[in-house]
Amino acid sequence: MRITLSVIKADIGSIGGHIQPSRRLLEAVRRHVADAGAGLILDHYVGYTGDDVAILMTHTHGPGAEAVHALAWEAFRAGTEVARAQGLYGAGQDLLKEAFSGNVRGMGPAVAEMAFEERPNEPFLFFAADKTDPGAYNLPLYLAFADPMTTSGLLLSPELGEGFRFVIMDVACTEGDRVIELQTPEDLYDLAALLRDPERYVVESVWSRAAGEIAAAASTTRLHNIAGKYVGKDDPVLLVRAQKHFPATGEILAPYATGHFVGGGMRGSHHMPLMPVPLNAGISYFDGPPVVSCAAFCVHEGRLTEPVDAFAHPFWDAVRHRVARKARRCAARASLAPPCSP
Ligand code: 13P
Ligand code: 13P
Ligand code: MG
Ligand code: MG
Repeated sequence: MRITLSVIKADIGSIGGHIQPSRRLLEAVRRHVADAGAGLILDHYVGYTGDDVAILMTHTHGPGAEAVHALAWEAFRAGTEVARAQGLYGAGQDLLKEAFSGNVRGMGPAVAEMAFEERPNEPFLFFAADKTDPGAYNLPLYLAFADPMTTSGLLLSPELGEGFRFVIMDVACTEGDRVIELQTPEDLYDLAALLRDPERYVVESVWSRAAGEIAAAASTTRLHNIAGKYVGKDDPVLLVRAQKHFPATGEILAPYATGHFVGGGMRGSHHMPLMPVPLNAGISYFDGPPVVSCAAFCVHEGRLTEPVDAFAHPFWDAVRHRVARKARRCAARASLAPPCSP
């Protein structure tokens, strides 16, 4: 069965500043997707990361399907009404256009979509980040898909060993989509050169060369490019298929143990380390730190299992402690917080 995974996310308002959405807002979004999505989508999951609400949908209509995008847009509008009624901060923040015009791309919400022939078992990971921008996924995707010191599967598995095709978006180009394609392993140095500039070059998708199939899809929305001014962070989402022709789940997760520096902290004006957090966690320190959550699923005939919270495992507590210290040092350097002991 050929299915499509679509994740569409937006900041439509939150309690106490840019912290986290209200229960009533989330209920309104969930109710709208469940009611209006009947007969259109096969399954869905609604969750939040910081102040961003993500709607993950499974269906058979392909990427960019108008009805699916309209469903998410209307769900966010329903949530925005609640946000306004409750006086939430930044109500409707990411809904930058008034009227829906066929596709949410270019309207504010972030989108990541992939279509594929479902394998008999189909594990995938859904990442959502807050207080950062799409380049946040550059390093983790590079390490998981192109670095054999991270992913031994690149050496051990003939399918992974054929390498991957990276589709990279130049997000500084506002006249249209400027896309660069590079193949690993032969283009490895060129790939690293681009991905080391995450404010400009952003991974849009990754493809298995052995299977010719999509492996990962990320959102590349730059709100600044749409609005023409700073209106909030892009807060990107990412879908990654795991196992067999793709890296193992643990290889995809491992790079997040670094707490690498990403753009977007505090008013979008600081570089701070990315903290892996549990699902449905809010934001606190210094409007951050930048966070990423990961829900692991299997999908079968378009039906999702329950999500497994990949960063809830005790291992990540130690990572969070270290990232918190790194984040405090960043803020201290900016003279905006008291220095912490080394
Ligand atoms: P299983 O044998 O448990 O599937 O694990 C394979 C593996 O090597 C994962 O890293
Ligand atoms: P959000 O884009 O998550 O609303 O963050 C805005 C911001 O700059 C907080 O400091
Ligand atoms: Mg916000
Ligand atoms: Mg946000």
